[in-house]
Amino acid sequence: MCGIVGGVGPSILAAEVFEGLKRLEYRGYDSAGLALIGTGGVEVIRTACGRHSLDDLKGRIDELTPGASLVIGHTRWATHGAPTLENAHPHTDCTGRVVLVHNGIVDNFRELRAEVVSHGHELKSATDSEVIAHLIEEELAAGMEPAAALGSVFSRLSGHMALVAAFAQFPGSIFGIRRTSPLLVAEGDGRSFFASDAPAILDVATSFYEMPEERVIAIGKLANGAAGVSTLTPLAIDWASQDVELVGHQSFYEMELSQEAGAFLDTVSSLIDEGGGAVVDELKVDPYELKRLRKVTVVGCGTSYHAGLVGRFLIEHFAKVPVEVDVASEYRYRDPILDDDALVVGVSQSGESLDTITAVKGAAAAGARTLAVTNVIGSQLSRLSDTVLYTRAGPEVSVASTKTHLSQIGALALFAIYLGELKGHIYPEEAREARNSLRKVAAAIEVALERKRGYEEKLAPFVGTDRFFFIGRNLQYPVALEGALKLKELSYLAAEAYPAGELKHGPIAMLDSEAVVVALVPRDRLREKVLANIEEVRARGARVIVVAFDGDDEAATLAEAALFVPEVRPIWSPLVTVVPLQVMAGAVARSRGLNLDRPRNLAKTVTVE
Ligand code: F6R
Repeated sequence: MCGIVGGVGPSILAAEVFEGLKRLEYRGYDSAGLALIGTGGVEVIRTACGRHSLDDLKGRIDELTPGASLVIGHTRWATHGAPTLENAHPHTDCTGRVVLVHNGIVDNFRELRAEVVSHGHELKSATDSEVIAHLIEEELAAGMEPAAALGSVFSRLSGHMALVAAFAQFPGSIFGIRRTSPLLVAEGDGRSFFASDAPAILDVATSFYEMPEERVIAIGKLANGAAGVSTLTPLAIDWASQDVELVGHQSFYEMELSQEAGAFLDTVSSLIDEGGGAVVDELKVDPYELKRLRKVTVVGCGTSYHAGLVGRFLIEHFAKVPVEVDVASEYRYRDPILDDDALVVGVSQSGESLDTITAVKGAAAAGARTLAVTNVIGSQLSRLSDTVLYTRAGPEVSVASTKTHLSQIGALALFAIYLGELKGHIYPEEAREARNSLRKVAAAIEVALERKRGYEEKLAPFVGTDRFFFIGRNLQYPVALEGALKLKELSYLAAEAYPAGELKHGPIAMLDSEAVVVALVPRDRLREKVLANIEEVRARGARVIVVAFDGDDEAATLAEAALFVPEVRPIWSPLVTVVPLQVMAGAVARSRGLNLDRPRNLAKTVTVE
């Protein structure tokens, strides 16, 4: 999704803002640009070379006059208008004195575009964003101050978005405003910044602030009609700039995969006290309210949705509360039956996925209590929910999630145990024991990760295949979905996931000797059933890979390859069986010569519908 970085202060360099954009590259983009206000007014450079846009932009920074004290930058992920040079941001008005960058979509842009065109403005791009510059130009011409002009135009725009603008007559201030879409404010070394997320500016900023909604904020010099940084709420972001540097690995995907045992352990440890009890300070909902919960709904997208599917089993197992799980983009358009006995849990790594945010907002409006499970302190989801469980996975740069998935499952597991204890379904001693056993799973995850090379060797004969099926039952079905999603995202291959018992109701028709079926068969109460499903698959000639617990020779004899993981309690099995599938997605993509960190068509942090 689009990325925004802006900096203002005595020694701000276009190269620094560029580095911020570089750190937003992971979000996905197709064109990029920078603007500054120098002594001669607004200067803009833009480029549209697809994934190489930032390399191109870097080579052109010298075209900008050095010594400016205000620079704004943008990476664009095309929505309105193709990824061309004309459509790349920053955009300017007819006078060239207003310059802005924009993330999000202006839903009513057609009528606004028609309006500015009818007023004689010449539009140079097909974007919704440029229209905003012309509307601001009109307000300035009518005598408004920049902050008032921005606020007035913003109130006419419908949709979710973040806007950062600068004005030639105000070379000391940058103005920002947002609705739902991410934007934060930061300061460091006498300079002030706007950025779409914290990793972009970790090396230049030391203090971070929440950006309110619907309010024009000015950074740098104070400006009439705009609030300054002193009015903002600080954010306790403790990530370091080295957390977002690629060290010792070929890709962020592989680096973050290698970190997932630690991320999981940090998450669960932060939610368990020394005596094995729950750390409830994190959970700000009144225990009495939780005790009378009669329904839990979990919503999320992609990998986070899959963590929610695992969460359903955990909550029903420990807390005996009925749970439904839905894809956030579907849930938000349902008419769910909710009241204050219902808890809606939004699971989102970024805390900024628009679908999840709007689903949780809708649930709150319908009277439900809300809980966020997110990795980003101060994210939109964390702010709008009644309470938050933070995963402590550190920044996730890879578009394809790995370490945050396990951390989300860990947080949901601890919530399930806590709820079970509150509701009296498990004794405190059992709850303590369950928490401690969960913490120990980190060691099993680590062992599975250490087997990466071994998994890759076993998978080598399969990497040329272009049709994969993933099957599992109960807790392993979400793992199957996650394995298929990872493979699709990174390798662009057809990968389907089915509950193993569902194959015979239709999908088995697709199986032949060209198909590879990955069967998840840990030692649990459904193992025999899955073994029978594997026999059905073999009878149709398909090639079989099994993911099984150590020592399960019986499962291995049914397969061409067996990916063994250390045995853990069946209830924790998704935390280890997913590891070989994450490795598999990376290995298949790499064998096809694909860049693991730049999956085609994908963006990280999806802030549009
Ligand atoms: C898959 C992946 C996506 C995200 C999804 C939700 O590897 O990363 O499917 O899980 O876009 O993102 P968050 O969790 O930030 O809401």
